[in-house]
Amino acid sequence: MAQHQDLTHFNTLRLQSRAQYFAAPDTPAEAIALIKQYASQMPITVLGGGSNVVLAAELPGLVLHPQFKGRRLLRQDDTQVEVALAAGEVWDQVVAWSLAQGWQGLENLSLIPGHCGAAPVQNIGAYGVELADVLVGLTAINLTTAEEKQFSAAECDFAYRDSYFKSQAPGQWLITEIVLRLNLQHQPLKLGYGDVAEHFAQLPVGKQNAQGLREVICAIRSAKLPDPANLPNAGSFFKNPVVKTSQYQALKQQYPTLVAYTLASGEYKLAAGWLIEQAGWKGHQPGGVGMHSQQALVLVNHSHNATAEQVNAVAEQVRRDVFTQFGVWLEQEPLALPRGL
Ligand code: EPU
Repeated sequence: MAQHQDLTHFNTLRLQSRAQYFAAPDTPAEAIALIKQYASQMPITVLGGGSNVVLAAELPGLVLHPQFKGRRLLRQDDTQVEVALAAGEVWDQVVAWSLAQGWQGLENLSLIPGHCGAAPVQNIGAYGVELADVLVGLTAINLTTAEEKQFSAAECDFAYRDSYFKSQAPGQWLITEIVLRLNLQHQPLKLGYGDVAEHFAQLPVGKQNAQGLREVICAIRSAKLPDPANLPNAGSFFKNPVVKTSQYQALKQQYPTLVAYTLASGEYKLAAGWLIEQAGWKGHQPGGVGMHSQQALVLVNHSHNATAEQVNAVAEQVRRDVFTQFGVWLEQEPLALPRGL
């Protein structure tokens, strides 16, 4: 177990941060032993790929960084497979691998940074597909009792960028393995989001398949979402806010170019990137930290020594400016650690 571990390279926003204690268990059994030993003495925080977190300068207690690896085929019939993926597997490598096996279902979720273990926490989603559409269940370890439990998909209580693990039991579980159900046979591809269908139609006919869709999604993402390896960021920094029909109608009347999607509930989901751009924040990066010039929803860090305080100050100002102009309060998407600060 390391002490005073520098976490700057364990978070894709590249914020300066240190863990009081740090361990990177290779197996769930190692993690269970650490939890049994330390849970009563100090807080335990799980840190996966670090691609959806805002880390404070100091993380008290023990930070667990699961390194569990493994991809297991659990069952296969004529139409579907179920595959178990260890928490430390890199999400996009799994997506590429599953498509190479001829399994369909993850193509729309291509190029999302992070590890498999974190995917259920915020119910990763993109281009019309969410993890909830393919997840069958998962295994997790209780961070207080060190007991293992299997969760069904229903028990994960998935919602838009939300789950049981994010809202109802934050910081209480370490996810060790997720189980996904994928298709062996061709299913209609999900092309309904934005300009996906248009780009897909430009592929040669022989490439108009799940693998081709992955390439389209990768190209769309790369064009507007900065690669954390080149420009530190944590993806979308705010959720797209949901408003009542009356508020949507009033805003639409005042701002005819407002971008919004109708939800099954009859409410409207507003494009936070549009709101932030209108509020003057697109490409505005005071002190090197601010909103991306290609996609205003992504907070980027050009500075080499930025801290969570700097990020929080910018995020607060963006929220206030959007609220002043539109009366809509944006909710932060990445998790602030340690919790409760
Ligand atoms: N827009 C602007 N200005 C901007 C950015 C966006 O006007 O600077 C408007 C445009 O009209 C655009 C619309 O907003 O068409 C939607 O933008 P985009 O398609 O880029 O998607 P998003 O709503 O900004 C969401 C997810 C992304 C996901 C994409 C594609 C959230 C919080 N974000 O972004 O997820 O990749 O849709 O499905 O739901 C993430 O969670 O980290 C993430 C990147």
